[in-house]
Amino acid sequence: MVWAYRHEPFTDFTNPANKKEFGEALTLVKQELGKEYPLIIGGERVMTEDKIVSENPSDKKEIVGYVSKATKDHAEKAHQSAQKAFESWKKWKPEARANVLFRTAAIVRRRKHEFSSYLVYEAGKPWKEADADTAEAIDFLEYYGRQILTLKNGVPIHSREELEFNQFTYIPLGVGVTISPWNFAFAIMAGTTVGPMVCGNTILLKPASTTPVIAYKFMEALEEGGMPKGVVNYIPGSGSEIGDFLVDHPKTAFINFTGSKDVGVRLYERAAKVQPGQKWFKRASIEMGGKDTIIVDSECDIDTAVESIVYSAFGFSGQKCSACSRAVVHQDVYEEVLNRVTERTKELTVGNPEEPDNFMGPVNDQAAYDKIMDYIEIGKREGTLKAGGFGDDSKGYFIKPTVFSDVEPEARIMQEEIFGPVVAFSKAKDFQELLDIANNTDYGLTGAVISNNREHLEKAREEFMVGNLYFNRGCTGAIVGYQPFGGFNMSGTDSKAGGPDYLLLFMQPKTVTDQF
Ligand code: SER
Repeated sequence: MVWAYRHEPFTDFTNPANKKEFGEALTLVKQELGKEYPLIIGGERVMTEDKIVSENPSDKKEIVGYVSKATKDHAEKAHQSAQKAFESWKKWKPEARANVLFRTAAIVRRRKHEFSSYLVYEAGKPWKEADADTAEAIDFLEYYGRQILTLKNGVPIHSREELEFNQFTYIPLGVGVTISPWNFAFAIMAGTTVGPMVCGNTILLKPASTTPVIAYKFMEALEEGGMPKGVVNYIPGSGSEIGDFLVDHPKTAFINFTGSKDVGVRLYERAAKVQPGQKWFKRASIEMGGKDTIIVDSECDIDTAVESIVYSAFGFSGQKCSACSRAVVHQDVYEEVLNRVTERTKELTVGNPEEPDNFMGPVNDQAAYDKIMDYIEIGKREGTLKAGGFGDDSKGYFIKPTVFSDVEPEARIMQEEIFGPVVAFSKAKDFQELLDIANNTDYGLTGAVISNNREHLEKAREEFMVGNLYFNRGCTGAIVGYQPFGGFNMSGTDSKAGGPDYLLLFMQPKTVTDQF
């Protein structure tokens, strides 16, 4: 028996003791920066000459780590290790596989602030965001460990009892490729690895190139937790060189991708192509972006609207696929909500997240910085700049939280994913129009409705086409096991990470009829 799942509590940084401990962890991790990291193939460490340089986005000159870079040969070797490990790992009892996850969760929990500190340096996360990322990684371990226990005997089905005994169970698929993003460099990397792993599959993990060090630290925790060699292989590398190779590989059984729409669409197409020697159809779980909207009704609590928009738009600099990048507000409260969001936005502090009091840190890298700054220029033509609008990439990649008002629903900054601290305001005349604007994108990941009108909320429940819909709160911060997460339409295949159906994506059901 395992105890009931409950999510990992967030650290209270108003408590001076917690603040002190986190500061100490940062100091310790700082001394670890700049190390070299090998690949991990079949449990063996392989150091390569060519390295991925993981820099601190708050201070480009500070190198978080030099990480070995896998070639096609390494990827092939890793694939073979994973194929070999699959033969024994799939026979492990589900309880024993779950135990590896529970042990790893305990290891991470004990060293929580250490892991979070890597996120501060490598991903530029403010303390609170780093702490939430680590908590979510722990949650995935605890939740998926429990989920496999509920699925291990399959699902009861009917039998004609005078004639037969029928059984319906789930078996793993084989070797899968996990390609994970930098924005939840720990949680999504860990969740998209251990979910399929606990089902009995073996994994080739290609973490994001800007955040490979935290993934290496997680590999160490998995090993300490009892993961056998070759069950997860750590192979950072370039998408064009090894990403495509792994996806195309005829022995790959599934692809578990989280990242940009361009890459996701491409991988989905590649996964569909049956290669010579391939014996099955590959499954592809593809989670991509969003153009997420908070709609504000005329009857609403204005404070809730303002706080929800500000935190959802600017938490972790808007670099969440769930981030609010569109605020669509009823004309009766538009000016008030806009003015108050603008005031609050101007108060937000931006700077190095090593300092606990900075609300926002940097954006991910130069490419992200340039793209967001380009969209800010587009925004200046499409709307009225109310707050922010400038950045500074001299030391790190810092951009002020930016608000545009009076933007047309069809404008580019209302339609295209910016993935940065930019929110656009549009006005609507009634609730139907609020909903119509919210639904007018290609995406469908998250959304929120701020309203005190029950009838409107019920209408939104049916008609707001997003995978994760929130009432009277912000649209970020889904919790594993509480808000299974994934999007409709071009946001992805709606895999609902942290939900009761997730593991089924990585297993195949088998029916056995025993006639007597
Ligand atoms: N799960 C995160 C959130 O809800 C996004 O990936 O904010």
